[in-house]
Amino acid sequence: MTASLSEPTALRYEPLRGLALWGEEEKAAALDVLESRSLFRYYGPALQRRVERFEERFAALHQAPHAVGVSSGTAALTCALIGLGIPEGAEVIVPSATFIGCVNAVVAARGIPVFAEIDESLTLDPTAWEQLVTERTFAVMPVHLNNAAADMDPILAVARKHGIRVLEDAAQACGVSYRGRPVGSIGDAGAFSFQAEKNITAGEGGAVVTTDPDVHDRVVRYQDQGGQFTTSRSGERGTAGEAFLGTNLRMTEISGALLSVQLERLTPMLRRLRDIARTVREDLADLELQWRRLPDEEGSGGDLTVLLDNRMAARRFVTALTAAGIPAATLYSGRLVQQNPAVRAGRTPWGIAWDATARLRASEAVLGRSVTVGLGATMTDDDVAHLVASLRTAADAARKGANGE
Ligand SMILES: Cc1ncc(COP(=O)(O)O)c(C=O)c1O
Repeated sequence: MTASLSEPTALRYEPLRGLALWGEEEKAAALDVLESRSLFRYYGPALQRRVERFEERFAALHQAPHAVGVSSGTAALTCALIGLGIPEGAEVIVPSATFIGCVNAVVAARGIPVFAEIDESLTLDPTAWEQLVTERTFAVMPVHLNNAAADMDPILAVARKHGIRVLEDAAQACGVSYRGRPVGSIGDAGAFSFQAEKNITAGEGGAVVTTDPDVHDRVVRYQDQGGQFTTSRSGERGTAGEAFLGTNLRMTEISGALLSVQLERLTPMLRRLRDIARTVREDLADLELQWRRLPDEEGSGGDLTVLLDNRMAARRFVTALTAAGIPAATLYSGRLVQQNPAVRAGRTPWGIAWDATARLRASEAVLGRSVTVGLGATMTDDDVAHLVASLRTAADAARKGANGE
């Protein structure tokens, strides 16, 4: 029986990173925490300080003095904005191709998102966002998309010129670097996600990295009800700086234990993914595909994103790859984050806060014609060879459709 287009084709490999490598070490680490009956990070009958140890190692990996583990990547972004001292109603410039969590974090921090163009790197266009700067701009949030860095040096130059804080969203790029510096530690603060699809994972989780001790202090307090277990002493709250209220975005000890194991797997996994991406690009050099621009290919953690001629060609490309069992998609289904109805309407839990109806046509065009191939941490050499052959077929399918063949 031949497969019809309506029959889903089984994927050749799992397009997962840390979760694909999950093994006995993770189980043992989680079991240790369960047996200690100390699942809360700040006290317990036999506290193992798993979150604290993870934070120390995570900070060291990022060559930064401080890291704070929190409950999610969105929580990390929110904590970072609050840690940086965002005033109520201040504007945060966000690239238009990103996850809605970026917008939700700005809203949770009582800020206003402003949407900027991306370029052929699919990340913030370093030349286009300066025109959005107003006296209300507080921060810019470059997003390191799919294991590849945004172009940080020109972004930093504009930010410094205007006195704007830089919050890197490294949710999708833990372990990636840009010109020798780990992403998340280049700007004033960096936010990471450890959700199930990410490079290292505990199912959920996040972290903030910063070099600034004041930002660190504010993040620690905000994620802990303003300092419930971190600064309260004998009923007195907060010694460093002015006391303020917070919320509960704390990380659990099980997450800390799992993430410490996952962190050991990160560097070799990214090396493998980067090698796969390089091999595929080299093997297909004769096709002259247009790949997404990578501001630092050497530091990337493996990205294979093709820019086709237009949306229709991108669709044909995805269909051909899917039929061959290769995970592939246009990121965010080709929709900019502000095309989400709630974002477009500016509807926050406390009312309508902004207008995002203006079109960003350059971003719509480039995102819509992009196709990202999912790479998996357990891909075999056979899988890679099959991927190369499938990309050839897909490139042919995209071209044939364009010629009306
Ligand atoms: C770019 C980006 N930012 C933020 C987040 C939010 O992370 P989380 O899902 O852990 O809240 C994600 C998660 O998918 C993301 O991809």
